[in-house]
Amino acid sequence: MEEQHYQLLDGKAVSAQMKKEMAEEVAQIKAAEGKIPHLAAILVGHDGGSETYVASKVKTCQEIGFKSTLIRFEEDVTEEELLRKVDELNNDPDVDGFIVQLPLPKHISEQKVIEAIDYRKDVDGFHPINVGRMSIGLPCFVSATPAGILELLKRYHIETQGKHCVVLGRSNIVGKPMATLMMQKSYPGDCTVTVCHSRSKNLKEMCLSADIIIVALGVPEFLKGDMVKEGAVIVDVGTTRMPSSVTKSGFKLTGDVLFNEVAPKCSYITPVPGGVGPMTIISLMRNTLLAGKKAIYK
Ligand code: GUN
Repeated sequence: MEEQHYQLLDGKAVSAQMKKEMAEEVAQIKAAEGKIPHLAAILVGHDGGSETYVASKVKTCQEIGFKSTLIRFEEDVTEEELLRKVDELNNDPDVDGFIVQLPLPKHISEQKVIEAIDYRKDVDGFHPINVGRMSIGLPCFVSATPAGILELLKRYHIETQGKHCVVLGRSNIVGKPMATLMMQKSYPGDCTVTVCHSRSKNLKEMCLSADIIIVALGVPEFLKGDMVKEGAVIVDVGTTRMPSSVTKSGFKLTGDVLFNEVAPKCSYITPVPGGVGPMTIISLMRNTLLAGKKAIYK
């Protein structure tokens, strides 16, 4: 069969455009003598991935013109101490939104920490109130990765209505909210959604019937060419750090899609890096701007 000429869903370019749009808006807010949006981030320990993500969030805040505060704790911080900091940020009128970077050390309950965050400042959209509101289509903070993917689909005018969307993965952060949003009565959305995971028996058959596949398993190069229908749209959420002797950092970011096999069959596909990653960061910034403007909750 003739090879499709695929188009990249360029998250790097789209996020750069969004960054520019937001920087202009923040400049206007500042000129009007309004308060600048302020994002705080709590980072526990020294996990390589988390360090990178949080540094990138802080840097993007500066580029857009937001105020940002980084709060660090060592790996051995107690749950009580962390919860005290969450409470402090909840009550700090200067902080519009904040995040606690996950994962947390095993001795701390992530769920307890998430539920301690004031949902009106929960720009990660992880609090049950935000998750619940999203699932019934009410205004809320939508978690950054799914929100970023929707924005990417929207800016490339990808048709979604009536399409079969397969979501691989059922995490609270990506798979579940993604499935919920893709079935929502809206654009992007209105899909027939199938969620597959590590226990699914007919995953390949499901993928072969999919018009859109969103892969969020965290298994490097899981999705192969023979699992994809001609013309499909592929979104790769994977960001596994694989050791590499070639790169300066000593690792290479690897997606959940075997790109060289899958891309020739696609209409559209996200690269790794430069696809979903930058869209995730910029969506957190969008949520912070919304928090600063009190656009969702008063
Ligand atoms: N860990 C992986 N992704 C995320 C995210 O979007 N937010 C936070 N806080 N932690 C994460």
